[in-house]
Amino acid sequence: MKFKILTPEEAVEMIENGENIGLSGFTAAGAPKAVPRALAEKAKAEHAAGRPFKINLFSGASTSASTDGALAQADAIDYRTPYQSSPDLRKNLNSQKTRYNDMHLSHTAMYMRYGFIPQVKTAIVEATEVTDDGKIALTTAGGNTATYCKLAERIIIELNAYHHPGLKDLHDVYLPLDPPNREPIPMTQVEDRIGTTMLQVDPAKIVGIVHTNENDHIAPFKDSDPVTDQIGENVCNFLAAELKAGRIPQGFLPIQSGVGNIANAVLAALGRNADIPAFRMHTEVIQDSVIKLMDAGRCVFVGGCSLTVSDDCLKHIYENFDFYKNKIMLRPQEISNNPEVVRRLGLICMNTAIEVDVFGHVNSTHFYGRQMMNGIGGSGDFARNGYLTIFTCPSVAKGGAISSIVPMCSHIDHTEHDVDIVVTEQGVADLRGKSPRERAEELIEKCAHPEYKPMLREYLARTPGFHTPCDVTKALEFHKAFLKEGDMRKAVFND
Ligand code: COA
Repeated sequence: MKFKILTPEEAVEMIENGENIGLSGFTAAGAPKAVPRALAEKAKAEHAAGRPFKINLFSGASTSASTDGALAQADAIDYRTPYQSSPDLRKNLNSQKTRYNDMHLSHTAMYMRYGFIPQVKTAIVEATEVTDDGKIALTTAGGNTATYCKLAERIIIELNAYHHPGLKDLHDVYLPLDPPNREPIPMTQVEDRIGTTMLQVDPAKIVGIVHTNENDHIAPFKDSDPVTDQIGENVCNFLAAELKAGRIPQGFLPIQSGVGNIANAVLAALGRNADIPAFRMHTEVIQDSVIKLMDAGRCVFVGGCSLTVSDDCLKHIYENFDFYKNKIMLRPQEISNNPEVVRRLGLICMNTAIEVDVFGHVNSTHFYGRQMMNGIGGSGDFARNGYLTIFTCPSVAKGGAISSIVPMCSHIDHTEHDVDIVVTEQGVADLRGKSPRERAEELIEKCAHPEYKPMLREYLARTPGFHTPCDVTKALEFHKAFLKEGDMRKAVFND
């Protein structure tokens, strides 16, 4: 190989204060490991020497404790986009140490190419292989890597010996042209291969190779509990009834499933439900639950952006690679989350809400309108364009002190126009084709927790004779009661 071999410390010597860095990967999957860790150490040393050192960090989605976590602990991130889920970084966003641009994950690469957001100077890319003529075999995720490498001045490769060399054959690297030259994305089926297995970059930009040997360090999700299990059952029973009613075609439609514990419980329930035929998935994050469905023959193919599976699950895939190699495809997030593709494939899209209001607006990102949790991720890419858009959440949080069904969301990510179905452990609200008042009644009766139903009905009764049941003088009483008294049940509507 003609490229220079570097230690992580040598690699970060060339990174300067204020630089824009683009990382490969999506979640912890496929993200570089050793160089970001060394960058955090460099930041600490610079700070100890009294010099400023912060970078602007662009990735596919969240990263890992060794990247977002370590850099946040070192207070080394000035600007971050497009997504994060790190407790340490979350603290920095919510205390204004880090500026955060929470954006649709299908937008990042094209916005950077359009010049809407700053371009990266350095791309750090995890690979299983790199050829002298600049072909890179990516590891467990597609992410925004193709665009970051296209725009970066220099590329640092982390060559990770842990990963299975066959991973490269799972990739379908495709970079769309930009308007006015954009063409239809030539995908009509989940399985369609439209690009190349390896990413071609300009070899002159590759400034060095860092050797590593480590897995993605992904912990398994918590086990499901009675509430998430019930949400899963409710979603499945609804989908089975839709299939029977002919509103979902016989043979079923491909599934997109969001991140988190509820999403895993819903997928597990789909696997158990005999009324639902074996299905295909076109999704963003491929989690352990998808691999379990494949092992059981319930999911026959999955296209996604990342293989975000626990360390044990990744080992299992590598040990049984022949079984999976023709059943998994990894795409850039600009394609996995592409509105054109989502609409054409007719996806059943299932994502998680933090709160839903009586109109059907969904908040996926904020607590009390001001405190960032993770970010919108791909939920908006899918929700707006799905064949059927479902949001799930428990009806209450914090032991009942918070109702997830509220008079008005404290922040809105998905509007009433994009939300078809809401599911809690209490039941299923079908909002399709309904007026605002009908939607509010459906949500309260089917999804709200019994303790909150009388309060929500009381709120609804305040605005008879108007099209939309909204009383702006009382719409945030639930949130006010929680912030002042720690309990939404203390909200008062009858003044
Ligand atoms: N107000 C305040 N806190 C709330 C709340 C509310 N309305 N609703 C939930 N919470 C708290 C819960 O109590 C819990 O906190 P705890 O762990 O201290 O008890 C936390 O929020 C939710 O925790 P988590 O276990 O992470 O939930 P989850 O795994 O089901 O994730 C989301 C839920 C919404 C945070 C997550 O799905 C997400 O980030 N979604 C946006 C991005 C997305 O949808 N991506 C997928 C697209 S493909």
